[in-house]
Amino acid sequence: MRRITIIVLLSWFIIRSHAQSNELTEQLGNIKLEFRLGDSGIAEYAVYFKDHVVIKPSALGFNLKNNPALRYFKIIRSERKTFDETWKPVWGEVSQIRNHYNELKVYLQERNEPNRFLNIVFRVFQDGVGFRYEFPVQPHLKYFIIADELTQFNLTGDHKTFWIPGDYDSNEYPYTTSKLSEVDGWKLPVLSTNSKEINEPDQYAVQTPLTMKTSDGLYINIHEAALVHYPSMQLHVDRKSYTLSCNLVPNALGDKAYLRAPEVTPWRTIIVSDKATDILASKLILNLNDPSKIENTSWIKPTKFIGVWWEMQTGKGGWNYSNNLDSLDANGKLVPNHRHSANTENVKRYIDFASKNGIKGLLVEGWNTGWEEWYGNWNGGPFDFVTPYPDFDVKAIAQYAKQKGVNMIMHNETSADASTYERQMDTAFRFMNKYGYTSVKTGYVGSIVPRGEHHDGQWMIDHYVRAAEKAAQYHVMIDMHEPVRPTGLQRTYPNWLACEAGRGNEWNAFSDGNLPEHETIMPFTRLMGGPMDYTPGIFKIKGYSAVAGRQVHTTLTKQLALYITMYSPLQMAADLPENYEAHMDAFQFIKDVAVDWDDTKIIEAEPGDYITIARKAKNSSNWFLGLITDENARTSSFKLDFLDPNKIYAATIYRDADDADWKNNPEAYTIEKVLVNSNTLVNIKMAPGGGAAISLLPATSDQLKSWKEYK
Ligand code: NOJ
Ligand code: CA
Repeated sequence: MRRITIIVLLSWFIIRSHAQSNELTEQLGNIKLEFRLGDSGIAEYAVYFKDHVVIKPSALGFNLKNNPALRYFKIIRSERKTFDETWKPVWGEVSQIRNHYNELKVYLQERNEPNRFLNIVFRVFQDGVGFRYEFPVQPHLKYFIIADELTQFNLTGDHKTFWIPGDYDSNEYPYTTSKLSEVDGWKLPVLSTNSKEINEPDQYAVQTPLTMKTSDGLYINIHEAALVHYPSMQLHVDRKSYTLSCNLVPNALGDKAYLRAPEVTPWRTIIVSDKATDILASKLILNLNDPSKIENTSWIKPTKFIGVWWEMQTGKGGWNYSNNLDSLDANGKLVPNHRHSANTENVKRYIDFASKNGIKGLLVEGWNTGWEEWYGNWNGGPFDFVTPYPDFDVKAIAQYAKQKGVNMIMHNETSADASTYERQMDTAFRFMNKYGYTSVKTGYVGSIVPRGEHHDGQWMIDHYVRAAEKAAQYHVMIDMHEPVRPTGLQRTYPNWLACEAGRGNEWNAFSDGNLPEHETIMPFTRLMGGPMDYTPGIFKIKGYSAVAGRQVHTTLTKQLALYITMYSPLQMAADLPENYEAHMDAFQFIKDVAVDWDDTKIIEAEPGDYITIARKAKNSSNWFLGLITDENARTSSFKLDFLDPNKIYAATIYRDADDADWKNNPEAYTIEKVLVNSNTLVNIKMAPGGGAAISLLPATSDQLKSWKEYK
């Protein structure tokens, strides 16, 4: 049994001076934090980058239910420390992460009775600031209810903003790029033809992670880290003053959070740089999360997988075995509709494909009873997570998968009935253990049960953490669909490999889809919190849907690039085996690409326009690159100076054909095989809505003889 090795390469902290003034500052590199108490005793903070103001003085504090507001303070003391440690994530974009910050902790006490206490902890990193509130043990604050968190982010101007509305139950919106003064969640670009429950009570609220660009070229990202036992934070936009204020997602009674001191809130995070690439490279959110709570992590393995899935998404098959639960046959059995994708024979076909091509995982949805009435009834979930449909032979499939070296991925759609799932979880995980399922994809489609709760409220936040902990107890990796968006908890629960919590590739199957710029925005927004199960790799870009006009809004080679630009330790090859078999030369990239990394170089990036990323595979000399553009064609030029200067690499370049175009000619691609080294300057042309993928493997002696040098 391998124990977790958190190798602390360098770790030290120094406690520095105490101070008593009403104004305190802390700094690291280009980032400066100011804290002060206003005349009335309201606590305020401000953030600076170089000589720019990032956050103007902004208020802090709370309104409590049935209690006076916790807002007017005096400083009793403050404490500073410096911390510098390098730690190793169980998996990730890099194999070592430096966590370096200066901390300022301010101990506050209410000016008037009941003289309650509140501490605010600020951590100043080289790329931003995190802060959180601590409610220490005290006589006049024990059990309490947060009515409002009063945290503000007072911005300096009408920044360009990449936003989705503040829905309490969903992040699956297309991004709007607009000025802050134009944010209006009720005026959406109506991209989707799919009806969905919209739950955005505040017309001017937006979701985080929120990325903005200022007119003087700063990139600012606001989000939160370590969201546990507290509701998710949305931001209300004051369209005149450009002040963002914390909106916590309420529970069924309209309350925000039930706490008992001692307690801490999640961290509020502000990442800032004058380089967009620094935003994508930031590890601030991960660093603010606790180290792994799982000691033995040897069973946690990043993986690629395929799924009996896209055929349901596109309507070729179905999740449900029958069409009507109320009309049974003469033996009292369900009447099969003969469209049920999760049947033993079809599943074996997918196992064969995975096994033949070295894809380790297979997800099968629609294997269990309940799919006839799974959606939209709010009547409690129809699933028990252990009863297969009659044509899904769970035992035979488990044996066949084992024999072929394929790991089955369980699917537990809960229909948002989290209370049933809480009762069934142990049984469900025991079932997975029994049949050799090493991971599970959970899902929360619909309105939450317990009724009145929200996907992003405190009750569900507790539920997601319980599900991750429960999965860990059974050595099962977990991928959650429709949860709250992630906040770096993958550091603490490394078996929580990925989440959806965003508008995935699947929207191209059942709606108008995603705009060509979508994937250039997501890494700056949704992915700042953690990996996304985006489900890339669709090769049949058009003609998969019976609905006219539906297509994927990228070229084929852009789908390959997403394996690099959309970071996840869990990557699906989402298309059907037969669609891959039509393009095995391009599928080679999916076979080769790694899912766990020693190093990552963000080569160039601009939200809404383009992203180029290079990653070095874990414990290997292989590099993989992904380049994507928006609706505009683009040529990307850069030097491969990250390569080992002593090696020659065999580069396989998968790029758009010269006449490719996401709309009219999306499946046209060219594959070039050439020799490169660390001095090579590449020029890669991308089509409108296009992209490119490159694999760089140390050249073999045969390749050295027969492949040409890159020109
Ligand atoms: C929504 C998920 O995102 C999708 O991947 C899944 O197939 C359906 N729910 C059914 O669970
Ligand atoms: Ca653009």
